[in-house]
Amino acid sequence: MALVAIYDSGVGGLSIAHEVLRTSPEHDYIFLSDNQAFPYGTKEKQDLLDRSLAIISRLDENFCIDVLIVACNTASTVVLPMLRERFDFDVIGVVPAIKPAAQLSKTKHICLLATPGTIERSYTDELIERFASNCKITKIGSSELVLIAEDKLYGRTLDQSQLDTILEPVIENTEIDVLVLACTHFPLLRDEIEKCFLRNARSVRLVDSGEAIAKRLVSIVGESQQIANANASVIRTALVSAPINQERFTHTLADYGFDELQLLSV
Ligand code: DGL
Repeated sequence: MALVAIYDSGVGGLSIAHEVLRTSPEHDYIFLSDNQAFPYGTKEKQDLLDRSLAIISRLDENFCIDVLIVACNTASTVVLPMLRERFDFDVIGVVPAIKPAAQLSKTKHICLLATPGTIERSYTDELIERFASNCKITKIGSSELVLIAEDKLYGRTLDQSQLDTILEPVIENTEIDVLVLACTHFPLLRDEIEKCFLRNARSVRLVDSGEAIAKRLVSIVGESQQIANANASVIRTALVSAPINQERFTHTLADYGFDELQLLSV
């Protein structure tokens, strides 16, 4: 049994938590949301490096983790080598699902939906070059969609028409047949995105990296085993870097299996 930390700027880590808890329920999990420094998608590289080092150092001082999942595409494009060099635990990063998208696409025209930071990084260009050089890529960088996902999980009402506007390039270009959800916040809006395409009479496959991360965790810590005792006590702690006053959020955390909320001051 391992202690696994799932780290994101905000609620996006919950889309990854959903997949890994389903596949490997026997481990202890910490969900870490750096809500104090949210959002990451508009930050410069150096700010991401400094912030990740600060918050993961605090985490490391307080918990003896075995694996860190950087459940954030934006951070993963920048901080992975630094974290691997500085800490002893295993570090898993999220890679935009460009490879499976290119394999799935029949038209060989895919759309990459990510934060502005992920869209512009050379890391992303290299992935495209390596795995989708035979595809046309339409890129959408959206911070607004990240906020919409946060709103949803904080129990605020969503304005569906905003999705139509953000996804307009995909709705209008009927050649695009696969959409890569390259920000961990976006799978949390899967239903809304699917409804948006349906409303606009568009058929588009959505792909994300959740399952790949769950598999990577298994390859690092070993095959999933049934919990011997259904009442076995496992850790399911959520950490936030700034206080949260919405009660709805604690319900959301509970829905994802995290029954304890603590402040990790950085
Ligand atoms: N969830 C994050 C990602 O996967 C970033 C969201 C943000 O803080 O902008 O890129």
